[in-house]
Order: sequence, then C-alpha cells, then structure tokens
Amino acid sequence: MTRVLTGIKPTGDLHLGNYVGAIQHILRMAEDTSQEIFFFVADYHALNTVKDAKQLRESTKRIIAAYLAFGLDPEKITLYRQSDVPEIFEITTILNAVTPKGLMNRAHAYKAAVDQNAAQGKVGEEADIGVNMGLYNYPILMTADILALNAELVPVGKDQAQHLEFARDIGGRFNHAFGETFKLPQGFISEEGAVIPGLDGRKMSKSYDNTIPLFSTASELKKLVMKKIITDTAPPEAKKDPEESTIYQLYKVFAQPEQVAEMKAGFEQGGLGYGTAKKQLLEALENHLAGPREKYEALLQQPEVLDEIMRKGAEKARAVATPMLKKVRQAIGAD
Ligand code: TRP
Repeated sequence: MTRVLTGIKPTGDLHLGNYVGAIQHILRMAEDTSQEIFFFVADYHALNTVKDAKQLRESTKRIIAAYLAFGLDPEKITLYRQSDVPEIFEITTILNAVTPKGLMNRAHAYKAAVDQNAAQGKVGEEADIGVNMGLYNYPILMTADILALNAELVPVGKDQAQHLEFARDIGGRFNHAFGETFKLPQGFISEEGAVIPGLDGRKMSKSYDNTIPLFSTASELKKLVMKKIITDTAPPEAKKDPEESTIYQLYKVFAQPEQVAEMKAGFEQGGLGYGTAKKQLLEALENHLAGPREKYEALLQQPEVLDEIMRKGAEKARAVATPMLKKVRQAIGAD
C-alpha cells in the first residue's frame, strides 16, 4: 500500500477549475486500491489570511461537503480537518529546530510578499510588512502535515513543487540529526494540463475573477454560461477553430465523447453558432452538476453528518500520527 496524502486550503468557494484540477484527480486516485489516501482541509494554513471564525468554520465544512457531494467515500479516503490532529503542530515545533531560516527566506510565497513591498518602496525594516509568522513558516507546517502521516506520495499542483522540495529537505535534516525517522515524500506534480479556461478565456482562476462556481444555482449557471462567456463575433455559418473556443474547451470536460466530437465538427465545418453551443454546454454542465449540487446543499443542512465524518477521519489520522509523534519524541530525547 502506498500512502498518499494531499491537502487543500479552505479559502473561497470551489469553481470548475478546482473540480478538474483537484476533485476529479482525487476521485480517480481513490479507484486505485493499492493506495491508502489521506485528504485533509488545511484550516490552520488558511488562518494566515482568514481572520473570521465563522468564515473559517464554514469554508472548511463547505470543502468537505463539496468532495462528499462529488462522491468521495469517507470509508475509502480518510478525510479530516488539520486542526483536529494536534500531533501535526507538535511536530511543527520540533521541525522548526532543524529548519534553516534561510530556507524559508527562499520560499516563493514569502518572496512574492517581500517583492511586492519592495515595489511599493518598502525596503529594509519595512520589507516584511504584512507578512505574519504563519506565512513565513507555512512550508514547515506543510512539511509536518506530510511527515506526521508518514506519507510517501504527495500529489499537488505545480505551484506547490517548492514546498515539496522543502518537505524532503527538512525531513532529511531531521533524519540526519536524529537518525532515520521520517520517510521522505515523493511529489507527484500535476502539469498545467488540467487548466481550463474561465469566462474570459484566460485560465480559470479566482485572481482573474473569471470563474464558474461549482455550486451555482441552475439560474446563476445559466446566466454565466449564456451571458458571461466571452466569444468573438463570428456568425453561426463561419468556420471556427474549436481549440480557440472557451465553450468547446469546457464542453470537452463535461460532455460525452460523441457530443464533443459533434461540437468540434460543427465549429470546424461552420454552421454551429455560439448561442447554440452555449446551450449545449449548459446542458452538459447541468447534467454533471445538478446531482452534486443537490447533495451539497443537503449536506450543508446536516452539520452533524459532517461533524461525524470529520471526527472519524481525525481518529484515523491520529491513529497514524500518534505513534509517529512518539517515535519523533524518542528520537529527540523528549520521551
Ligand atoms: N499548500 C497547499 C496548497 O495551498 C495545501 C496544503 C497544506 C498541502 N498542507 C499540505 C498539500 C500537505 C499537500 C500536502 O495547495
């Protein structure tokens, strides 16, 4: 059994891009029975930016409900909330002691914050304005997430590749100082292939404000697809390059292969107008999303069900993290 672990930060609502990039990915992995999967919501990572208890609590539950709504089976995948596993934070403190400060100075997210300050003329003592220690230590907490569960494989997006290198580096330093204790995790970096276009044709991303939320109501979804997806002004009879069309790119992900082939032909040969294509896309999206939407809304009305799933998940995660912490404490002489 290969132990696989990944996490998601609960910030903001999920959109179609998250579905293609992360949700589908984990559901596919769950089909592989040679893997034991741990999946958690990194609420203490979100704390660096979220300073509102209600928001943190709710966005955590929304993520859990979303994955369940798309069919994640909590009996097969251990689903838990980071803050429910205190061993992670004790291991974080211990890892602090073997992590060079200089390594953290090189972290992309931290450097980006410093560069942004510099661009506004804030240098020297002001260079770190807006950076809390949680952001600075983010990679150490992420390392502890992974090492506490002794994970072997960590699937993440490209933006997390450096964090994975740090995890291996920090784990290696601990092992070097105190003897072989942690397995060093392998990253499984998914390529940009999973990127889908947003309403304006650029990569779907919250930072571009071009997303289609995963759980929009049917009427919101209709409005977004019919009114907000940007197209050029080619008339229906014109031949169009499907690969240039946001409608087609999204259709490819959500429609059946024959339907996709049909839209492709309609664009290439001419005769398929954008309005008609949008209707087809909307139908494909509705087919795909209506069921999960209903399940999601129902789950949010049953907080006790979500709580019970999180409780069980934490129990399973702690069954691994507790002996791991014991081993670590022994290694350092805190037993
Ligand atoms: N940093 C990850 C992200 O923003 C989330 C995360 C936290 C994570 N801890 C992790 C991912 C451990 C994989 C393993 O996407």
